[in-house]
Amino acid sequence: MNSDHFYITTPIYYVNDKPHIGHAYTTILADVLARYHRSLNEPTFFLTGTDEHGQKVQRAAAERQVPPQQHCDETVLRFQELWKRLGITNDHFVRTTYDWHKNVVRQVLQDLYDRGEIYRAEYTGWYCVGDERFFTEKDLVDGKCPECGREVSEIIESNYFFRMSKYQDWLIEYIETHPDFIQPAFRANETLGFLRKPLGDLCISRPKSRLNWGIELPFDKDFVTYVWFDALLNYVSSVGYKQDGGAFAKWWPASCQLIGKDILTTHSVYWPTMLKAMGLPLPRTIFAHGWWLTGNTKMSKSLGNVVNPMEMVDKYGVDAFRYFLLAEMTLGNDANFTEDAFVARYNSDLANDLGNLLSRVLKMVLRSGGVIPAPGERQDDDRELLDAAAAAITGMEAAIRDMKIDQGLDAVLQSIRAGNRYLEKTAPWTLAKKGETARLNTVLHTAATAIYQAAVLLMPVMPEKMTELGQALGFDGGAFAALRIADLRQGGDVMTGRQVSDTTGLFPRIQVEAAAEPVKPAAGDKAAKAAKPAKAPEPAAPAPAVAEDGLISIDDFFRTQLRTAKVLAAEKVEKSDKLLKLQIDLGTEQRQIVAGIAQSYTAESLVGRTIVVVANLKPAKLRGIESQGMLLAAKTGNKLQLVTVDGDAEPGASVG
Ligand code: MSP
Repeated sequence: MNSDHFYITTPIYYVNDKPHIGHAYTTILADVLARYHRSLNEPTFFLTGTDEHGQKVQRAAAERQVPPQQHCDETVLRFQELWKRLGITNDHFVRTTYDWHKNVVRQVLQDLYDRGEIYRAEYTGWYCVGDERFFTEKDLVDGKCPECGREVSEIIESNYFFRMSKYQDWLIEYIETHPDFIQPAFRANETLGFLRKPLGDLCISRPKSRLNWGIELPFDKDFVTYVWFDALLNYVSSVGYKQDGGAFAKWWPASCQLIGKDILTTHSVYWPTMLKAMGLPLPRTIFAHGWWLTGNTKMSKSLGNVVNPMEMVDKYGVDAFRYFLLAEMTLGNDANFTEDAFVARYNSDLANDLGNLLSRVLKMVLRSGGVIPAPGERQDDDRELLDAAAAAITGMEAAIRDMKIDQGLDAVLQSIRAGNRYLEKTAPWTLAKKGETARLNTVLHTAATAIYQAAVLLMPVMPEKMTELGQALGFDGGAFAALRIADLRQGGDVMTGRQVSDTTGLFPRIQVEAAAEPVKPAAGDKAAKAAKPAKAPEPAAPAPAVAEDGLISIDDFFRTQLRTAKVLAAEKVEKSDKLLKLQIDLGTEQRQIVAGIAQSYTAESLVGRTIVVVANLKPAKLRGIESQGMLLAAKTGNKLQLVTVDGDAEPGASVG
C-alpha cells in the first residue's frame, strides 16, 4: 500500500446535463484534500472526469438531435470550464470515450471472459432506465425501482454476466476486517446489510438492439458494455493500468475514492469484486458523503430548487463558495444549502472573524510605519495566541487524516477568534497612543504571525483570497501560495521586516438585503460587476457575534438547523442512568443520537414520537457512542419535557 502517496478520485460525472452543486461539491472536496496532501508534502494524484457512455447520455444526445460523441464533446466543456472557474487542480481529466480507456476496458473484459469470470445467460429482470440498473423481482419496492422509486420495465434477454456472487463471502470478510475501507462506518454497515441478502451475478452487457452507445464487447459484437462496468475502470485506466506499469504501481491502490451516498453499492460491491477478479488490491478508502439539500428537501429539476454553482460563484466569489461547502458539511451527513446560511457563515467567519483581524492588524502596522516590527520579549498573552495558532496546525493535520475538514476549519477559526480576543486584551491602539512601542511591536508581530499561519492553513480551501492575504502581509503572491503546512512546522521568524499593504476588500460584509435577491444567471464581465452590489464596505470595528446586551442576530439564529425527526428505536446506554441511544429518521437520512433524558423518559415511550433536533451539530461521542445531533427538551429542575410539534409533521421538516 502506498501510504506515502495520495491518490484521490471523484466519481466521473454523466455528461447528460449541466453540472450542479452536487458535482461541484465532490470536486471541490477532492481538490481541497489533494491540496492539503500536497501541503503535507505527499506526492499526490487527483483524478476527475466524465462518464460518457450509456443510456442517459444516448438519450440526452437524442433529445438534442446530435450524435452522442458530439453531445459529449460539447457537454464536457461545461464541466471543464466550471472546474477551471472553481480553481480545481486535478492532475488528469478522464473521459470514458478516450481510446486508451476503451482499450483497457476491452482488455479487462477479454481477460475475465477467458478466465470464465464472465459467462452468457438468459435473463429476466426489471430494468430502471434512470439508474441503468437491473433488479430482480424481490429487489423491487411496491413494484418500483428500489433506488429511485421510478417505474421499471420487465426485460427478457440474453446477456453476459460477471460472476460477482462468488465473491460475496470474501467481500463481507474484507469489509469486516478493513474498517477503513468504507467510510463513514455507518455506510460500511449499510453495505454489509445489502450483502446479507444473496448477491446475484452482475449483468455487464447491453444488447446493441436496445443501446448502442457504449464499448463493444471484445468477444461479441452484438453487445456493448454496461456503463458502470466501463465507468468504474476509469480509476485504474487513468493511472496506467495495462499501459504503464510504473505509473500504475506508483498510484494504485487509490488512497481515497470520494462518492455520493447514492452510488455506494456500485462502489462498495461491484467495484471491489471486479478488482478482486482482476487480481488487483482494493482502494484504501471509499468515502461516501451526504447530499446537499435545499431548504431540507432534495434538490430536483422538477422542484426547480437545484443550486447552480456558477451563479453562486458569480454572486459571491469562488473562495467564499469553496469555504462554505467545506465548512458547512460534516463529511458523511447531509447538509442544507440556503443562501441565508451561506451569507450568515460568510459574514461571521470570513467578514467578521478573519476579515476584521486582518484589517485591524494591517491598519495598526500601517499606522506605525508599514513594516512588521521585530518582536520584543513575549508575555503570557502572546504565548497563548501562538499556542492557539499551533493548535490549529495540529487540528488541521488531524482533520485531514480523519477526513473531517469542517473540524480542521473550525480549529483555524478558533485561532482567528483567539487573535481578535488577543487584540481586545492587548489593545495595540492604546499602546500606540501611550507610546509603548516595544510592547506594541511584540503584539503586532505576534498577531501577524497568527494570521500568517491561519492563512497557510486556509490556502487549500481559499487559494485566491489567501494569496491576496499573503501579498498584503508583504509576501510574493506565488511564493506565499507555494507555502505548505510542512513549512509552518519549521518555525522561525518569517514576519519581521515585511512591508504590508491594505486590503480592506478581502472579505467585505454581505448586506443581508442584497443577499435576499435571488441569484440570477450572469455571464462574463457582467457577472463580475453583478457581484459587486452584494458587497458593501467593511465595518470599521468587528460586530461581536453576541452583542453586549446578550442578543444575537437572525443570521446567527439561522446557523442552527432545527428539524423534526421520528424516533425509530431507543435503548438505554449501558452503565449510564441518564443516557438513551436513539435511532432517528430525519426524512432524508437516519441518524443516531445520544440524549440525557433517561430519568424522564423510558426508551420504549419514545419510539414513534416526533422530536425536534439540532441537525447541524458536530458529531460528538458520549460514553464512546457517537451522537449525530441533539434533541431539544425543556428543563425544570431535573425534569425534562421533550420539545415536539403540534399534530403530525413529516420527519425532516425545518423548525424555526
Ligand atoms: N456517472 C456516475 C458515477 C460513475 S463513477 C465511476 C454518476 N454520475 S452523476 O453525475 O449522476 O453523479 C455524480 C455525483 O454527484 C454522485 O457522487 C452523486 O452523489 C453526486 N450528487 C448528485 N447530487 C448531489 C447532491 N445534491 N449533493 C451532493 N452530491 C450529489 O453517478
